[in-house]
This record gives sequence, C-alpha cells and structure tokens, in this order.
Amino acid sequence: MTTSDATTTAALRLGVNIDHVATVRNARGSAYPDPVRAALLAQQAGADGITAHLREDRRHIGDADIERLMQGLTIPLNLEMAATPEMQQIALRHVPHAVCLVPEKREERTTEGGLEVAREENRLAHFIAPLREAGCRVSIFIAADKPQIEAAARIGAPVVELHTGAYCDAHAEGRLDDRDTELRRLTEMAAYATSLGLEVHAGHGLTYDTVEPIAALPEIRELNIGHFLIGEAIFVGLPAAMAEMRRLMDAARAQAQKD
Ligand code: PXP
Repeated sequence: MTTSDATTTAALRLGVNIDHVATVRNARGSAYPDPVRAALLAQQAGADGITAHLREDRRHIGDADIERLMQGLTIPLNLEMAATPEMQQIALRHVPHAVCLVPEKREERTTEGGLEVAREENRLAHFIAPLREAGCRVSIFIAADKPQIEAAARIGAPVVELHTGAYCDAHAEGRLDDRDTELRRLTEMAAYATSLGLEVHAGHGLTYDTVEPIAALPEIRELNIGHFLIGEAIFVGLPAAMAEMRRLMDAARAQAQKD
C-alpha cells in the first residue's frame, strides 16, 4: 500500500518488527532462526510492513539481513536506526520504503525513550534531507510531547511514531491512573500531530491487552509491534499471533468509528 492510500482512508497498518527473531539467532551465533524467513512469513500472513532495527552494535538485525530483506520483501521495509553517519550511508545504499529515526544507547535493553528532536533540530534537519531526497519516508520516534512533535514538523519529517512504552509499562505494572494519563496524552498528541500535517504511527511494548485503545485512535495509521508478537509466536505460531492482533486492532477501530 502506498502512503497516500493510507492517509485518505482510515486503514490501520500492522508493521511486524522481526528484531527478536534475530536476537534469538544471535544468542547462539547460529544461522537460525532466520529473521528474514520470519519477515516473509509475516508478509504471507498479511503484515502491511516489516520493521527492523539495525543497531550500532548489530545485536538484532545485521547488515546482511537488511540486504536480504530489501531483496525478498514485496511489502515496505521500515528501517529503524540511530541518526549517525554510518546508518545514513546504509539507508542511502538500500533506500528502504521508510526510515524511522530512534535514539540509541548501547547499554539499553530496548529503545527506552523517544528522540530529542527539539534539542537537535538543526542536525536532524540536515540528517533527514538526503534520505527524503532519496525517496525514504522519514519517521521520527518520539514521546507524545508537543515540543517534540512541533520540532519534527519543523524539520520536515512527514511521519512521527509515538512511543507507547510508558502507557504499556503503566498497564503492565497495574498503575492504572498513570496508564490513563499516558493514553490521554497519546490521544491528544496524535490529534495534534495530525493537525500539523504529520502522519502518525505508534508502537513499543504493545500487546493484546494494550493494543485496542491505541488502535481506536482515528489519527493513527500504523502500529509497529514486535516483541510480544514474536514471543506469542512461540506458542501459537506467527500467523496466528498476527491474526489475533489484527482482529483486536480492527475491532477497536470499527467500534471507535461507530461511537
Ligand atoms: N517502534 C519502534 C520505533 C521501536 O524501536 C520498537 C522496538 O524496536 C517497536 C516499534 C516495537 O516495539 P516492541 O518490540 O516492544 O513491540
């Protein structure tokens, strides 16, 4: 699907993040399980896109995986990466459908926060310009904060991905007031980002228990989900895990349209 299709309909895309297949592979230094095989299976099972994070330490996906994903996929690849010269060169070499800029600290277990666009506006504006010229749809992974959204719009990013980690963590830890506060923030900021002309995506930490209120937000066009889906796939298989996620997303979307 092209991005313009998505902005003229209320379709909600599911991007499947396959990093954690690579994490299991890399734990043994073996050739399996193959994250590209998982990506092709996800594609066959109806994923709208594949997301992969090429970390600076290559702890998930490696350079050869990106090469194979670019060759094998017919659905869009969303390459997550830090805003470094090395990653920019790699993205310019492959020209994936989308590039999502994320903050990266070596010692973190996962991407812990959103990118500080407001603090690095000038540098990031220069960083994304060649990617956009090459034809990559640039997305910036940010917290649901007004200053970050405004900065993302000012530097010319067409897409922001709102970080749902704080909302999901609050839910998992039973901090329900905090969860509701985070959900309100995501709701307001999805609308605000859209009002500035940005396309809005969301992701991080989403599960069957947390996806519905996010899928119900009409401005959100894409969810990127990995860790939970890959974990669930151990028990039911990836197509079944994706089908259940898709069912919950679609039901929440349909219900929100009725309300
Ligand atoms: N979106 C972004 C920008 C991410 O960095 C990640 C994690 O790599 C995800 C979505 C998916 O998060 P999770 O694996 O927790 O579903």
